[in-house]
Amino acid sequence: MLDDMLGRTKVESPKELFIHNLGACLTMENTVEEMLGKLIEEANDSELKQKLRHHREETQAQIRNLHQVFQSIGEEPKEQPCPAIEGIEKEGETSLRLTADELNDAVILAGCAETEHHEIAVYENLIVHANALGQEDVVALLQENLEQEQHTLGEVLKATLKDAQRSGVKA
Ligand SMILES: [Fe+2]
Repeated sequence: MLDDMLGRTKVESPKELFIHNLGACLTMENTVEEMLGKLIEEANDSELKQKLRHHREETQAQIRNLHQVFQSIGEEPKEQPCPAIEGIEKEGETSLRLTADELNDAVILAGCAETEHHEIAVYENLIVHANALGQEDVVALLQENLEQEQHTLGEVLKATLKDAQRSGVKA
């Protein structure tokens, strides 16, 4: 790695870029884990609260998988900035403040769908590069996380439909 004029190091190789992206993914999951804790409090529907609790547990396991990925490639787990997830979090917080409490579930579900789509894109990219780097054990760990996100997105969309139908009746 070469130092630039500001004294920061530059990512120079595909492997370094992979490690950098892995660090951004770790920040993403840590942020999501924290975010889910807040959303459990804000959700109205008990079934939604339960689903959020379940995905929070899955997220904790995903974080453990990411630590294992770092270990597999002989690196210390190091977070890198992930402004995308911060943006999704900020938008959700703003929407929750702007809307009446009875609309919390609709706001939460919209934020969850955006989060899952982002997470899926991140894992798909990491998996392609882990494959290219010939890291099969890493691919398996990342694949496990990807499948959980895909399953969660399906659950979020089902819950969104149910919530929209329920509020449609009230409207
Ligand atoms: Fe996740």
